[in-house]
Amino acid sequence: MNKKYRKTIIAGNWKMNLLPSEVKPFADELRALLPKTKSCEVALLVPFTHISTLRRSLKDNRISYGAQDVSVHDKGAFTGEVSAEMLADLNAHYVTVGHSECRQYHGDNDFIVGQKALAVLEKGMSPIICVGESLEQRDRSLTMEYISYQVLAALSFIPEGKERQIVIAYEPIWAIGTGKTATPQEAQDVCEGIRSVIREKRGARVARSVSILYGGSMNPKNAKELLSMPDIDGGLIGGASLKPQDFAQIISAVTEVTGEE
Ligand code: PGA
Repeated sequence: MNKKYRKTIIAGNWKMNLLPSEVKPFADELRALLPKTKSCEVALLVPFTHISTLRRSLKDNRISYGAQDVSVHDKGAFTGEVSAEMLADLNAHYVTVGHSECRQYHGDNDFIVGQKALAVLEKGMSPIICVGESLEQRDRSLTMEYISYQVLAALSFIPEGKERQIVIAYEPIWAIGTGKTATPQEAQDVCEGIRSVIREKRGARVARSVSILYGGSMNPKNAKELLSMPDIDGGLIGGASLKPQDFAQIISAVTEVTGEE
């Protein structure tokens, strides 16, 4: 399967870390460290409170930005929520939906995740749809069955012709923030499986154009091997995206894999 049909994306998921006042120094440092690359899109997914500052601090379009969640509603009496239109108004590019922490702590189910993905798409942004199995599911050999179900559920909300705008992130729950990474082959197998599900539902042309990221303790040491796999088109990076140096090294791993450096 040829990677030239899809984008490689390295996206940092800051979760609930760093302060708004730390955004500009971070952005300045990262911009200075960023390798020149045409083969990789870099994105930072930050708390809502940080987006405006990040937007101003990035200055040019070498780094994209976005949010970690969104409301399913357009507007109105939804105290505490943030709409897709508000994020689009800040020129956000990406919004993660269905991160396992949102599924676990906010009760986001596949129906809500699909609605959120659609809300993001309708405002011209790209949803990064997160899927992943628990350790128990993996131990019981239910991984691919469960992931296929999550992907099919999300796809059912994506209008035909809009698939190229979505990104899927495979994040095994047992690998998130634990220091335990899936082996490159384990991650590849699931990412390949996800692409097959897309192929069955929407055809080969669509399947080869959707970027599928791996997330779960990706770091400067293991990034190159993971990113070399044929169906892994980038990373969704939590802990290692909080230090500009580590994050930049992961981006450099892409340039090593593509032979750009
Ligand atoms: P981690 O987080 O890199 O800290 O494991 C990944 C994620 O949850 O997106």
